[in-house]
This record gives sequence, structure tokens and C-alpha cells, in this order.
Amino acid sequence: MTGGTFLVTGATGRLGPATVAALAARGDRLLLTGRDPARLARLADEVGVPGRVETFVADPSDPTDAQRAAAHAVERFDGLTGLVHLVGHFVPGPLMLTDVGDYRTLMDDNFLSAVVATQAVLPHLGAGGRLVYFTSPLVAEPLAGLSAYAASKAALTTWVRSVAHEVKGRGIHANAVSLTIADTPAMREERPGIDLDHTVRPEHVAYAVRFLTGPESEGMYGAVVPVHGRFGFSSALAGGPPAAAARRPDVAPAAPAARPAPVGRPDAALAGRPA
Ligand SMILES: NC(=O)c1ccc[n+]([C@@H]2O[C@H](COP(=O)([O-])OP(=O)(O)OC[C@H]3O[C@@H](n4cnc5c(N)ncnc54)[C@H](OP(=O)(O)O)[C@@H]3O)[C@@H](O)[C@H]2O)c1
Repeated sequence: MTGGTFLVTGATGRLGPATVAALAARGDRLLLTGRDPARLARLADEVGVPGRVETFVADPSDPTDAQRAAAHAVERFDGLTGLVHLVGHFVPGPLMLTDVGDYRTLMDDNFLSAVVATQAVLPHLGAGGRLVYFTSPLVAEPLAGLSAYAASKAALTTWVRSVAHEVKGRGIHANAVSLTIADTPAMREERPGIDLDHTVRPEHVAYAVRFLTGPESEGMYGAVVPVHGRFGFSSALAGGPPAAAARRPDVAPAAPAARPAPVGRPDAALAGRPA
């Protein structure tokens, strides 16, 4: 199984570079997709493995684009081993401060994009195929103020576990990685005041992806692999994040008072992360 061929959707995001580097170092051939040609070009330069790592401008949440991307990967690499679906989106906010549009967007980005990308890839996969998705411990610990995000990742997680049963008869493995907050340059720039040392490094997530796309995960179907670091979710997350309150100032007075999160605690990070 080493030297597989993977479609990596949403590769232009925070976890893309480390994930791509880990798979490319194993000798995998990768087709990276993103909607923004400039970001894709920057990623390709950063990773720098021409021939083995290629890019393709496509929106993996659009069925036609997703099918084009999967067909292109098959053509370029003479087959496809699997999908690493990095597409995702985060919007915090308590119920009364969160537009239903944000709920829909999160369901689209975190759940339905996975459905569309998987429907495009699955017809090309054979025995030993690998499907990898990304979820959150908020599924099991759905704290206040994060209901839209947690529900969208819960939908994804339940779907992955169901699909895993559906495809395992063909020898195809569908699994997910659950992570808290990744310590990335973008996160440090957004949240300079918090201690990200307890969270996970993108490389740690990438190790799990490499495991789930490699022969060592042969016995795993429908697993959710926790890569949580030493991060702890707590009720400090409750309350109205400033970003959501700013969008709906009319509703803000009726919202419960935000419980101040301790400065420097990693679990305070999500509450104010920009949407
Ligand atoms: N980073 C974290 O701390 C963290 C924590 C928990 C879970 N996760 C999950 O881990 C996965 C990867 O994380 P990440 O931080 O790398 O994600 P990210 O940077 O937020 O997003 C990854 C990519 O998804 C694409 N995307 C977003 N919405 C899309 C849509 N509707 N249709 C198509 N593409 C879309 C974007 O690519 P383009 O705009 O370039 O197309 C973006 O670069 C995600 O599922 C995320 O939810 C991340």
C-alpha cells in the first residue's frame, strides 16, 4: 500500500502543507484540490515535489468539479487509492446569535462536502482503498456556543461510521481523525494571547493521516482516531463569542453573559476564533 495515490481535497488550508508533506515523503502521488489557483500554486511551491504532487483547481463540494478532480487523478496516476478530505469551516456562536445561514454553511462545508467528494471518488477505488475525514471532540463533548459547528461535525462523524460499514465489504476503509486545535502560524497570528503549546501540531495530525492511509490501518473501518494533544475542552467555552455578537448587535442584550475564559488557557481559544 505504500506509494498510494490520493485526492487531497481542501489541501490549501491550515493542515494541508503538513499532511501533503507526510504523504509525499512516503512516496505517495497526490492530486491537491482547492478553489483558489493562487493558494494552490503557493502550496505546490512550498511542498515542491513536482511530478508526484500535482494541483487541480476544483470545488470538491460541487459534484461536477469533484468528479472532474477524481477522474483527473485517475488519469494522471493510473488509478486512485483514496481520498483525504481536508475541507472544513469553523463558525462559533450561541444559538440566538447564529444565523440559520451559518448553520447551513457549516453543514455544507463540514458534512455535505464530504458526501460529494466521496461520491466522486468511490467508483474509482478498489480493495485497500482509503477514505479519511476530520472531525472534532466537540461531537462527544458538545459545549455551549458551538452548536452549529459541533452538529455539523457530528453529522459528518455519524455518516463516516455508517459509510464505513457500507464500503468495508469492498475492502475500503473509511475513518476519521478527531482533533482539537492545530497549532499553525495562522492560529498564532489570530490568537497571539493564547498558549497553543497544549494543542496539536499539524505534523501530529499528518502522522495519523499517514497511518490511516497506510497498510498499518488494515484492520480499521469506521474508527475515529483522537489526536487531541493535551488540550482540554471545558465550560469556559460557554458564552457569546465577540464575532457573533458583532454580527447581531440587536440580539446581543438578550444573550447570556459570556463567562470570561482564563487567559492563556488553550480551551479559551475557540470562543473567540474568527469565523
Ligand atoms: N485547524 C484546526 O484547528 C482544526 C480543528 C478541528 C478540526 N479541524 C478540521 O480539520 C480539517 C482541516 O482543517 P484546516 O484547518 O486545514 O481547514 P481550513 O483551513 O479551515 O479549510 C481547509 C480548506 O477547505 C476549503 N473549503 C472550505 N469550505 C469549502 C467549501 N464549501 N467547498 C470547498 N472547499 C472548501 C478551503 O479551500 P479553498 O478555499 O482554497 O478551496 C480551505 O483551504 C477540516 O475539516 C477542519 O474542520 C481543524
